[in-house]
Amino acid sequence: MIPEEKVREVAERISIVEVVSEYVQLRRSGGNFLGLCPFHGEKTPSFNVNPAREIFHCFGCGAGGNAFSFLMKIEGVSFPEAVKILARKSGVEIEERQLSQAEKQAQDERQQFQKINELATNYYRSILTKGQEGEQARQYLARRAVESDISEAYRLGFAPDRRDGLVKHLNSNGAVLEVALKLGIIRKGDAGWFDLFRNRLIFPICDARGQIIAFAGRVLDSSLPKYINSPESPLYHKSSVLFGLDMALQSIRNENAVIIVEGYFDHLALYRAGIRNVVATCGTALTPTHAALIKRHAERVYTLFDSDSAGKKATIRSMELFLEQRIPADVIMLPAGDDPDSFLSKQSTEAFFEQRDKARPIFDFFVRSLLQETPPSSVSNKVKVINELSPCFKKIGDTAERSLYEKEICRLLDIRTHEFRKQLGGLSPARSHQAPVVNGNIPVIDRSQEMLLALMGNFPEALETIRGQGVGTLFEGDYLTLAETILKETANIDSPDWSAMMGRLDKQELRDMLSRLLFSASQLEGMDWQIAFDDCRQARIKKQLTTKNISLRLAVIDPDSEEHAALLKLADEELRTRKSKF
Ligand code: CTP
Ligand code: MN
Repeated sequence: MIPEEKVREVAERISIVEVVSEYVQLRRSGGNFLGLCPFHGEKTPSFNVNPAREIFHCFGCGAGGNAFSFLMKIEGVSFPEAVKILARKSGVEIEERQLSQAEKQAQDERQQFQKINELATNYYRSILTKGQEGEQARQYLARRAVESDISEAYRLGFAPDRRDGLVKHLNSNGAVLEVALKLGIIRKGDAGWFDLFRNRLIFPICDARGQIIAFAGRVLDSSLPKYINSPESPLYHKSSVLFGLDMALQSIRNENAVIIVEGYFDHLALYRAGIRNVVATCGTALTPTHAALIKRHAERVYTLFDSDSAGKKATIRSMELFLEQRIPADVIMLPAGDDPDSFLSKQSTEAFFEQRDKARPIFDFFVRSLLQETPPSSVSNKVKVINELSPCFKKIGDTAERSLYEKEICRLLDIRTHEFRKQLGGLSPARSHQAPVVNGNIPVIDRSQEMLLALMGNFPEALETIRGQGVGTLFEGDYLTLAETILKETANIDSPDWSAMMGRLDKQELRDMLSRLLFSASQLEGMDWQIAFDDCRQARIKKQLTTKNISLRLAVIDPDSEEHAALLKLADEELRTRKSKF
């Protein structure tokens, strides 16, 4: 933990414009600075930095925050790390609070893990690059056209066919074997310690920052299993790791897209072809954690799996995840019999790009493969197809997209829309009573709450009015959390420190929201806050209250309050519209 006054001291010494300028070319634009957003690909600048408030906001992708959160996002570091980096730059000395015994142990163990993984990597690497034992592996790599620069970039290695080569290496370099045991790369049996990997080509697996967290080992022939991997450990959770992410981050940002492959060798093949925005799953199906990780860095996804039936299955399995998380995903298809590695060993990078440009939306791919299996030549086949696609169809989050697919499916099946809908509905009659599937990660923008927050951030009078009235009926969800935070943080303060407030919000969604509203000042120019406020409040009240709970609410609030008057007016309107319906 870094003491709060230290964080403040750092914040006071740095300027967000300087921090951001190390990554983004900024030019002045009115009171703000403007540049191309480093978090998503864009050609016209929508990334704003406000030096007065020490915050940034991108109108393109919605990212926002202060200097610390900028660094966290762009470097993939934690808050304390970001503070430390900026402290170093601004010459603030940070002595850390005394760690507890348990914290010290955990920190110490992490350092040992790191050291052990580095030792192991260097050991495997030296076997591969030097001496007789690595000869077979060198020949194998040469056969697969893996040159030494690629081998170096991935820090490939070779585990020799020895019982305890790594054990001895770790031991002689002062590593504690019991700690290495926790990483699963060595084991203890009746006859003493022994290595996990033997006679295998070694791929170090890194986290997003390039720290080695695990290893995968491939045989050099066709024996089975083809790969063995480090077991789950305190460092390695395979469901949340994407192989190659550290090497890909820069390019993922530039392209604003990520290509997902299945195999380590596929990753390598694309890298060799100069295609760098690529990650591989480590021998598991894609998980929601993977999807969330991807979403943090890119707006769209390409799947690039083998052209065989296993690859097809993997593609379809990943689809649900992308639909649920509303990540636009396209499928890159390869000629029958090819995987990315074999394709690129015969074809040029341009040929690959041609395939990429022909990529089809994943749902489209899915529908077409269903139709291939079950041609819609009979009624029963059509019903079968609809039943199979319906669970996924319902997961398409975007309504426009869904209706386009509906049209397309009906065309392909040669049926009418209402027939399709009937068949869909018939499958889950309870559906209409369920809450709509709202994706937790995509901000659902509510105009009146947005505006109310913007007023709070830009008009001190509006802020005080809302403080007086309370936020309970005006906001809900994340908006409510943010409104409450703003009120708390601005109580008895003349000029709020928005940047510091930003730092105290622990959710990225909230930081994005706050920066968005603070940057909305230009749209509010010349606006009468009071009129805007009244409109929004009416809209909010209307949305929340039916006639029944209007009267419930009326019963409990101060009859002299503005809210009371507004509610009365609403109740009256409600009554009128009802009457006119009869
Ligand atoms: N995999 C695994 N364990 C296995 C087989 C496969 O963990 N026993 C994972 C590995 O991450 C592998 C990926 O699944 O990279 C894809 O498998 P495959 O296509 O068989 O391997 P490649 O790495 O493509 O190897 P190669 O090109 O040599 O066949
Ligand atoms: Mn493969």
